[in-house]
This record gives sequence, C-alpha cells and structure tokens, in this order.
Amino acid sequence: MGKIYFYFLILGVLIAYYIYTPLPDNIEEPWKIMLFNALMKTSSYLALFAEILGINHFMESIVFLSSFLEVPPTSDENVTVRDTTFNNIPVRIYVPKRKPESLRRGLFYIHGGGWCLNSNALFSYDLLSRWTADRLDAVVISTNYRLAPKYHFPVQFEDVYTALKWFLHPKFLEGYGVDPGRVGISGDSAGGNLAAVVTQQLLDDPDVKVKLKIQSLIYPALQTLDVDSPSYRENSHFPVLPKSLMVRFWSEYFTTDRSLEEAMLSNQHVPVESSHLFQFVNWSSLLPEKFKKGHIYKNPTHGSSELAKKYPGFLDVRAAPLLADDKKLRGLPLTYVITCQYDVLRDDGLMYVTRLRNAGVQVTHNHIEGAFHGTLSFLQFNIGHRTVNQYISWLHTNL
Ligand SMILES: *[C@@H]1O[C@H](CO)[C@@H](O)[C@H](O)[C@H]1NC(C)=O
Ligand SMILES: *[C@@H]1O[C@H](CO)[C@@H](O)[C@H](O)[C@H]1NC(C)=O
Repeated sequence: MGKIYFYFLILGVLIAYYIYTPLPDNIEEPWKIMLFNALMKTSSYLALFAEILGINHFMESIVFLSSFLEVPPTSDENVTVRDTTFNNIPVRIYVPKRKPESLRRGLFYIHGGGWCLNSNALFSYDLLSRWTADRLDAVVISTNYRLAPKYHFPVQFEDVYTALKWFLHPKFLEGYGVDPGRVGISGDSAGGNLAAVVTQQLLDDPDVKVKLKIQSLIYPALQTLDVDSPSYRENSHFPVLPKSLMVRFWSEYFTTDRSLEEAMLSNQHVPVESSHLFQFVNWSSLLPEKFKKGHIYKNPTHGSSELAKKYPGFLDVRAAPLLADDKKLRGLPLTYVITCQYDVLRDDGLMYVTRLRNAGVQVTHNHIEGAFHGTLSFLQFNIGHRTVNQYISWLHTNL
C-alpha cells in the first residue's frame, strides 16, 4: 500500500511541475492560465512528435485537435446564425432577430490563428460574433480564409479581400438592412493583420464605393522585419504565444521551407537592399519611453538576398502593414487598437498607433496591463470578459 501512495506522490509532483508556470504578479487567475498552458503544451508536444515521425505537419495536427472546439451555426433567441459563402469563401452570418428600428451597423470579423489555425466556427469566435451582433444590433460577418501550410501568402489576404468586397457591395448591404455609412472591420492577431492590410488595400480600390467607418485591430501582427523588439524580448517564453511559435507562424505564412524561420529567429532575414524599410518599424523612435525602458536598440544585421528573392512576401506591405508609408496611412479610418502587456506582438500595435497618429489618423489605443495574447478568446477568464466589454462598448460609441 505504502508503495502505491509513494508512486502517486511522485506522479502528483511531476504533474504539478508540468503544469506550474511562473507568471508575473499582476496576472489574474494564474492557475487557469497554467492549466490552459499545460493543455497547449501537450498539444504542441503531440503535434511536434507527429511532425518528427513524419506523420503530419505541425500545424495540421493542431488544426485537427482544435476542430473539436468548433460549433455548428445555431441560432439563439436573439440572433439568427447561418453559414454561407461569399464568392466561394466560407463565412458565418449573424443577424439580430429583433425588429430593426433603422438601418443597422455592419461588422466584418477576421479570426486569428497565425494564418495557419482556427476558423470562424471555433466556440470562442462564434460566441464573440453572437455577442457583437446582439449588443450592437449589427449584422456581423465572420469570415474564413484558406490556411497555411497548404496555402501561403497572398492566398489568405486574397480570400479575406474577396469576402470583404462581397460584403461591401451596396446590394448586399441593402439586402441585410445595413447602413453603408456604419460599416467596420475587426480582427484579432493574424486576423488583425489581415484587417489592417485589407483596410489599406481598400484605399486604392476604385471598385469599392463604400468606405469603412472604423477598423479595430486586436493585438495584431503588423511587421516581419524585427522580431527582437522589447515585447519580443520580454515575452519570448510567455504562455499562449511564445516567440518561437510566432516566428513559425510568420514563416509558414510565406513558405514551408524552414530556412526563413531560422533566419528570422536570429533576426537576420532582411536583405541590405531593403534596409530603408527599417525606418517604418524602428522601435527606438516609435515606442513610447516606458516600453523601451531597459532595452538597447541595435541597428539591424542583414540577411541573404536569396531568401527575400525566394519569398518576397515577407517584405510585402500586404503581409506587413507597418511597411506602408505615411501618405498611405493618412487615408485610414478611425482606428481602435488593443495591445496586451504580456504579448510578443505588443510593440507591433504600439508602433502602428504612433505611426497612424503621426499621419493624422484618429486612434483609440486600449493597452491592457496584466493581459496576455489571445485575451479576447478567453471569455471564461475575467480579463477576457472585461476586454470584450471594452471592445464592444467602443464599437457601440464609434461604429
Ligand atoms: C438575449 O437577450 C436578452 C436581453 O438582452 C438577454 O438577457 C439574453 O441573455 C440573450 N440571450 C442570449 C442567448 O444571449
Ligand atoms: C532608429 O532610430 C534611432 C533613434 O531614433 C536611430 O538612431 C537609428 O539610426 C534608427 N535606425 C534605423 C535602422 O532606422
């Protein structure tokens, strides 16, 4: 008997060791995050193992595992939900059931997942869109797009742009009773990247007459050039999105060849011919003082031109919207940016806020202390709940 207790004790200690992750003091509900992180770690290990054995690509295993978190399009007492396609792109539409008093708001939502993972059917994205539609009395379109590693840049961008243009068509808006003067776009993480990119793209598109009233970028990824900014340094091992995973997402967006990832990890992937682009992502000049504290800016070291010739996407403004010049930024609509304290992507958001403001664009910046990447998908966490309320209330006032 004694022996069995001893083995249980050892097992318990090992499990506790596996789950325990040191977290900063201002993190709420740390045990919830640790448990979630242990789940994520376990799926990553399984996916890595399958990849090493040559059974499945890492991202495809994760997609398979997370497909268990998907829900069908089910209407509830307040919102009618259905799946359809816009020019072959699958979208989920949320329409409030209550009788409209006037024309409604319209919101186009793009989910995150590093251009490789997730879908609009994921439980948390479905719930977010439901709440948004209900509380804003808005028609919400939540789009899908084809994912890496099967499809690379610019497919994700093109799919989203195609679906967005379908939505913005005056006939479509009219059919759904949407006010063309109150249409906005929103996305989180890689979806925030795509939202920023298509919003820029619309500025030069003579075919689209309807203008976006707002763009909302939730902890977006906005640049590929410098993955050694203070937020990358400080949060490189933080749960949910460690630097290694973010860099893998970026490189998978452009290619399955792992050499881009390797070069990015040492921050030596930008060829000398493109060094003029560094001014657009220079955190030394673009970050507020408090976020630079204790960090020393190193002028970038350059990588081979080969890489950029093979995968030019990583220097393309349609992948890295921070690379747009000021003239372009000037035309952008009212912008809402959420950044989180514990997020490698924090500085991408901060730098875009600075650049947009310098270009004269009106920006509301919501920096959330104690929050981590993906907060808006953790609706069962206090901080996730609070953040969603702030987000929806901003939309309520501004859309
Ligand atoms: C529907 O709306 C009512 C009134 O706002 C609210 O109390 C209820 O929780 C909503 N139902 C769902 C499923 O969200
Ligand atoms: C970045 O900004 C700093 C300070 O403003 C400046 O000294 C440095 O030369 C800049 N580097 C690049 C590559 O733009």
